Amino acid sequence: DRDEKLQIVRSAVKTYKHFPKQGIIYKDIFGVFQNVAAMRALKDLLVEHASSLNIDVIVGLDSRGFLVGPLIAVELGKPFVPIRKKGKLPGDVAEKTFSLEYGEATFEVQTESISKDNRVLIVDDLLATGGSMAAAIELVKSLEGEVVECLIIMELVYLGGRSKLQAPVYSLIEYD
Ligand code: PRP
Ligand code: MG
Repeated sequence: DRDEKLQIVRSAVKTYKHFPKQGIIYKDIFGVFQNVAAMRALKDLLVEHASSLNIDVIVGLDSRGFLVGPLIAVELGKPFVPIRKKGKLPGDVAEKTFSLEYGEATFEVQTESISKDNRVLIVDDLLATGGSMAAAIELVKSLEGEVVECLIIMELVYLGGRSKLQAPVYSLIEYD
């Protein structure tokens, strides 16, 4: 059942202290993808949740969101669209610059990949400060897509990222 699957996923996440720098606790989603039972449990949980949302397009964030998005999209029978770090996407793109803990970064999305009033699900592995997801929401809205939900696997609740997001947020695993 759901709780069993959540426990399998939770146990497969590897935690590293002081990576990539001192004081940071790093939650490694690749542990889940290296464990087939955990990968299947994750897929089931995500698909079960997302299938109730009536989504047109699934958007994933560069780069770990590219693992999560297609897993859902292929089961829902909906397209997967990437938001990428600047300079990686061909054709017409919209861009949004946002702050990181140190410095800033720019995300881009292909303008033709989302249409007006598309119902969009944005997915990523982790919500930390919320800076990346907030920028993704703005990009989708700039193309007149409707952000139905931001779906993440792991939320670092103590960083308060959720409060920055102007869209509904759902996380599978919360870390207090
Ligand atoms: C990590 C993680 C999220 C983001 C969360 O990605 O995969 O996308 O940080 O942080 P935030 O909520 O503070 O914005 P990262 O930028 O390290 O890149 P990656 O996905 O390519 O590893
Ligand atoms: Mg990322």
